Amino acid sequence: MSINQRRPVPAGRLRKAPEGFVSGDLINDINKHGMDETRRGFLRKSFLAASAALAAGAAGRASAAPAAGAGAQAPAAGDPMILQPRPWSTMLGHPVAFHPYGVPSKYEANLQRRQSPGLTQTAQASVAFAPLQGFFGIITPNGLHFERHHQGWVDIDPDQHRFMINGMVKESKVYTMDDLMRMPSVSRIHFIECGANSGMEWGNAAVPTVQYTHGMLSCCEYTGVPLKVLLDDCGADLKNGKYILAEGNDGSSTTRTISMEAALDDAIVAWGMNGEMLRPENGYPLRLVVPGVQGVSWVKWLRRIEVGDQRWNAMNETSAYVDLMPDGMLRQYTSIQECKSVITSPSGGQVLMGKGYYNVSGLAWSGRGKIKQVDVSFDGGRNWKTARLETPVLDKCLTRFNIDWVWDGSPAILQSRATDSTGFVQPRYGQLHAVRGTRSTYHNNAIQSWQVADTGEVFNVHVE
Ligand code: MTE
Repeated sequence: MSINQRRPVPAGRLRKAPEGFVSGDLINDINKHGMDETRRGFLRKSFLAASAALAAGAAGRASAAPAAGAGAQAPAAGDPMILQPRPWSTMLGHPVAFHPYGVPSKYEANLQRRQSPGLTQTAQASVAFAPLQGFFGIITPNGLHFERHHQGWVDIDPDQHRFMINGMVKESKVYTMDDLMRMPSVSRIHFIECGANSGMEWGNAAVPTVQYTHGMLSCCEYTGVPLKVLLDDCGADLKNGKYILAEGNDGSSTTRTISMEAALDDAIVAWGMNGEMLRPENGYPLRLVVPGVQGVSWVKWLRRIEVGDQRWNAMNETSAYVDLMPDGMLRQYTSIQECKSVITSPSGGQVLMGKGYYNVSGLAWSGRGKIKQVDVSFDGGRNWKTARLETPVLDKCLTRFNIDWVWDGSPAILQSRATDSTGFVQPRYGQLHAVRGTRSTYHNNAIQSWQVADTGEVFNVHVE
């Protein structure tokens, strides 16, 4: 049954955002010389030019094949795409194991993780954002998981990798990968969000698409040994040991203090990601998974955990991943990623191609538990309607929401507002600014606004 038979309102069509709108040369130039008004202007121009090119392409395709798309009227002569045999239905296809490791269709080549120009000086200490606008459901495909490295990624031979537990333990132990993978394991689905996600949006609307506003976010099924099992195995002093230090085996030796409470609750020393080994970019062969806690604590290429009774005051907890408060002081050791949500479709850079029905869809998550409710506003926060939550709705996991919307062609501002199982409601920017000021970078969980113009174009807009 087509959507038009079920609904009286014809379905609208959504044009994708231009994906790769920044040239490599411009990225290199910005990385080398930093961002200024001229380069920001070039960025804006690239985005608009790419949007225009996409529009021209879409118009061409529409005139060539008028019947494409839900809700379109069938041409009188019928659609040749369905009436005539297509070349691929009359030929021999490729053999099995043509790709021993499967790859996406060439028609999906545009959906990639992308580096944000100007954000960092080098590509080794940088971020590649996940293309949230192209995902369905809640699972992030392994090849599109966001990446955040402090000194580049490494591909470590698992036979040469060792993992040690020391500090306030009865017996310090060194494990091989083989030792670990023979222990009792668990598999759980959780989100990971970098504490710097949406960091550029604190003071204003900074970047055009959801990939760059919220793409330091991913969600996978992780497999490994519960950290508690390993701490017990070494006889950790759980009475006096209040913290653990996790340390990575890459050039940055990333270290981070984690509370014993989080370590014992649901942390996993993990090697699996969505049913296969971790990808090198995400910590192969071993990483720490600390559900609900900001990404920096999910130490990759994990080589050591130390049990202690005091925080270590490492670089990534004293000067980075800290909250700049309105009085100029830094608040340290914010760990939990608070309740947050974002509409991924329609979102910045996309275009509504006509009035009609749209399935508005997005993601919600909370580091404190499950998502209880997501409300969506189409008028900038004056009126709210409750969205449908797709199952499963899991602890410290992305939850997909959907809501019906009939666009009448007039300007609108779309927002989503999540509530978690503790009753915490995602704040407006005005509420967040009142307690945190406007100069912070980390832990921005404010409500995101997408403005739909009467032309159907969708823009990132700041609403207090
Ligand atoms: N662990 C090591 N050893 N080195 C790193 O650079 N980056 C951290 C964390 N763990 C990092 C690390 C940060 S800041 C984040 S947000 C997450 O890894 C990102 O994980 P991902 O690259 O798998 O998305």
